[in-house]
Amino acid sequence: MALYSEKVMDHFRNPRNVGVIEDADGVGEVGNAKCGDIMKIYLKIEGEPGHEIVTDVKFETFGCGSAIASSSMATELIMGKPLSEALTLTNRAVTEALDGLPAHKLHCSVLAEEAIKAAVKDYFDRNGIAYDPELFKEGPEPSCAV
Ligand code: FES
Repeated sequence: MALYSEKVMDHFRNPRNVGVIEDADGVGEVGNAKCGDIMKIYLKIEGEPGHEIVTDVKFETFGCGSAIASSSMATELIMGKPLSEALTLTNRAVTEALDGLPAHKLHCSVLAEEAIKAAVKDYFDRNGIAYDPELFKEGPEPSCAV
């Protein structure tokens, strides 16, 4: 069996939603200290607090192919969705949508989950919207076998 699924290869070769949103409502940047990969997510958000929709999302990723494929898939999964769904997107959901990642590349999908969470937190902070800090508690640094 091939190491990477066709979906991973497709999103790596033709990543969706690459770029910058200049007037983004929330921006999140995260990195993995071990491999040095960096992921940045830009969100455009509309709607009343509690009923917001992600109307646009773009990403910049300086990293491995799995990180690029994960970012691309993650943006597709939250585009047009309620902000609450973006906030609860897990790396597992990203990995499943990609038809899997090799075990030593799972941490790359964690970056996508963390970058989206960081962008949502930025949106909350900019707008003075109260939130449960537990939502953004940092877990242990995912190991990065490159
Ligand atoms: Fe570090 Fe993929 S994000 S190797």
